[in-house]
Amino acid sequence: MTLANDTLLRALRREPTPYVPVWLMRQAGRYLPEYAALRERAGSFMALATTPSLATEATLQPLARFPLDAAILFSDILTIPDAMGLGLSFAEGEGPRLAHTVADERAIAALAAPDPARLRYVFDAVSQIKRALAGRLPLIGFAGSPFTLACYMIEGRSSPDFATVRKLAFARPDLLERLVAVNAQAVADYLREQINAGADVVMLFDTWGGLLSPPAYRRFSLDPMRAILARIPPHVPTIVFSKGAASALAAIVESGASCVGLDWTVDLADARVRHGARVALQGNLDPLALLTDPATVQHAAAALVQAAGPAPGYIFNLGHGIVPATPPENVAAVVAAVHAASRAMSLPHDDRPATLPRSSGNRAPP
Ligand code: CP3
Repeated sequence: MTLANDTLLRALRREPTPYVPVWLMRQAGRYLPEYAALRERAGSFMALATTPSLATEATLQPLARFPLDAAILFSDILTIPDAMGLGLSFAEGEGPRLAHTVADERAIAALAAPDPARLRYVFDAVSQIKRALAGRLPLIGFAGSPFTLACYMIEGRSSPDFATVRKLAFARPDLLERLVAVNAQAVADYLREQINAGADVVMLFDTWGGLLSPPAYRRFSLDPMRAILARIPPHVPTIVFSKGAASALAAIVESGASCVGLDWTVDLADARVRHGARVALQGNLDPLALLTDPATVQHAAAALVQAAGPAPGYIFNLGHGIVPATPPENVAAVVAAVHAASRAMSLPHDDRPATLPRSSGNRAPP
């Protein structure tokens, strides 16, 4: 089915669009008062995420407020460890907690990809969201990267440095390798089911890959993500976001993903010149810019659109998720500014014959 707004899908294929599509990591979440009310009604984050009708409502909330160009499934990356039996919970105002960890040889040897039936609620949410969207916008499905999942599975909660994981990478690389291989299998199965249920795009969130040395990043984070990407049907666009992994950008570009997400430490203009002919790029406004005021936000967003330049294959996003203290009016300002600034740059669009060969479509920014 063709979508009423397919700018995201076109940009992911590096085809021209009339304006730069925009969506925001964590676009559904605590910065929205209606999200806080919904979570209250659900009783807990897990009740919200495991009830397809409520997950659908949460997914649609930001779309009712802002003219975003994509929906993203409301769920969490830790659904997979939960389905493996590790017992996920979220205490109010705290991060995730796993009741069981898998830090030793026995626990890692016993681990297997979960029965997909235990994740049925996610696939049901995807189908319900697709029905509710009724062809208006594409739906992004997602999963955590094998390494980022391993971080939580080993330590059981968030950590500033995941020291136990990094030590294990040196002490018992064989164990960490086995753990990420099981996760890669689980994530590939999971994303394929999301696609079967209707996800138009899938994204891998590798929040902690940037903690690793370059060789460890390739072995424990990038290689397992490549294995997953190889199992995604070729017609489905894919996005990989490895936070803090700018030094590995050239390797990520070769991973097989359609699009690479950038955090705010990366020079967008430079990345577009170097890599824009091979992959679409997504990013990368510092989410803390959204703690200022609409005028400041507009200026910062327009500057990034300029930095990305007029060539196809750019998707506006933040460099990481929206923080809870963000005023919703600043989100409205960023979305409007991206659309206005990119329309003003007058991208070449469909009705015009493509005058440039594909490879030279990636001009340096003015
Ligand atoms: O982007 C979206 O709108 C879709 C929903 C989404 C959530 N989590 C909902 C959520 C997505 C894509 C995620 C991914 C996720 N979850 C990541 C990768 C991206 C990133 O932010 O780095 C990670 C590391 C997690 C694990 C996780 N879940 C943490 C560390 C926390 C607590 C901290 C926080 O940001 O709130 C969560 C909880 C969570 N996941 C909330 C939401 C809306 C808040 C829960 C609440 O209502 O209290």
